[in-house]
Amino acid sequence: MDRRPIGVFDSGLGGLTVLKELCRVLPNENFIYFGDTGRVPYGSRSTETITKYARQDMRFLQTFDIKAVVVACCTVSSLWKSIQNEYSIPSVSVVAPSARHASETTTNGRIGVIGTAATINSRAFEIELKRLLPHAEVFSAACPLFVPLVENGRIHPGDKVIELVACEYLEPFLTFGCDTLVLGCTHFPLLWRIISDILPQVNLINPGVSAANELIRILKENELLSDSDSTGSVSYYVSDDTGNFSELASLFMEQNITNSVSKVDIDEYRGEERYHEG
Ligand code: DGL
Repeated sequence: MDRRPIGVFDSGLGGLTVLKELCRVLPNENFIYFGDTGRVPYGSRSTETITKYARQDMRFLQTFDIKAVVVACCTVSSLWKSIQNEYSIPSVSVVAPSARHASETTTNGRIGVIGTAATINSRAFEIELKRLLPHAEVFSAACPLFVPLVENGRIHPGDKVIELVACEYLEPFLTFGCDTLVLGCTHFPLLWRIISDILPQVNLINPGVSAANELIRILKENELLSDSDSTGSVSYYVSDDTGNFSELASLFMEQNITNSVSKVDIDEYRGEERYHEG
């Protein structure tokens, strides 16, 4: 029994779609969520910059006595393997669990992946899918306009703008004939209805659900589960103004979020880079 919190981080508030799934399956756990709202988006940045930001985000989370960490951001998850060994606590990124989920779901071996430009360029999902299912055919596409559209609440069927953009991005997947599509970005599960209207026969993989199952497995394996009598909690931290937190957090968590949120100066967690950069 271990009541220490679990750290969860993302480039912004999109990672709350992952947190929502974690809280659903692990109601006795305490979570500390950090959203780097001052530097979002990560998905259009270089590997070097994303890696630097991820290390700073981790440095902040490690100021709490966290027992495990969930990398909610798919963009950071795509490069997590390269820095994972820098940390001694167990970590869950969304790539391996959702690739496993997709490989177990497909029947025709044709799998689609959508994400930010950085995620797709990294080929992380594709590499993992082919490792698990060598005969799989994987078709990937970046869908960068989905992120700002979701953040502006353009998620509802009947909204002409999101429907037009989604048709353009997703029609190649119809031609490709995939039966499974990985929603490889924190924001995309909110477009579930829009996407399934365009790809009605396709199984959609929500990385938050896959990561939550993997977290349960890892906590059990390491004997880190909290006790089943305690009620879990969430503490929220962001790196920019907290003014519109409730509104955006409620959008991503799909429930009314009235919790308080604290602002963090993430620059204070630059560590050694501070000295190199001068
Ligand atoms: N959280 C990012 C992801 O899941 C999307 C937003 C961004 O580009 O930072 O890839």
